[in-house]
Amino acid sequence: MIRTVVSDRKYGPEFESYVQDILLNPYFKILKYYTHHGIERYDHCVTVAYDSFVIAKKLNLDVRSVARGALLHDFFFDLPKEQKKEMRKSTKGLKKITTFQGFTHPKTAANNARHYFEINALEEDIIEKHMFPLTIKPPRHLESWIVNGVDTSIALKELFKTFGKHPYLTITGKIKTQG
Ligand SMILES: [Fe+2]
Ligand SMILES: [Fe+2]
Repeated sequence: MIRTVVSDRKYGPEFESYVQDILLNPYFKILKYYTHHGIERYDHCVTVAYDSFVIAKKLNLDVRSVARGALLHDFFFDLPKEQKKEMRKSTKGLKKITTFQGFTHPKTAANNARHYFEINALEEDIIEKHMFPLTIKPPRHLESWIVNGVDTSIALKELFKTFGKHPYLTITGKIKTQG
């Protein structure tokens, strides 16, 4: 049985039923070893996905695609420091900005999602546009705008929690963290 940080929430079981294959995938589980604003990137993805799913549900949107696309929005593995340095060194002028992870990771996450799972066009849009306006093209669907907004809001809350010992309240409830 899958137990995530949202298992006990009102729609937790329904949410998990849409995304169990992703949650159980050994490559996706690697995200547990990366920290994202002070919490596991795995937990960050689950939280963003659950809150987006609940909002999509209230608005009668494509809840399955929102759950899956949002869960995969940060499905990327950090490059070794040396490789990042090398990339920056070999890029000139203003273009250097485009080598930063904030710009590159939506494409990387979409490539990983396509490689390890079957994703539809909406899920692809959700993943690729979740950092807009850092990525130039805006989201094409309301579902993608929701994930974009939820991710920003949750990332800010995670930062407050990390730097200000602020209680970690997401849109739909308090997150459970390990330890
Ligand atoms: Fe991201
Ligand atoms: Fe994120």
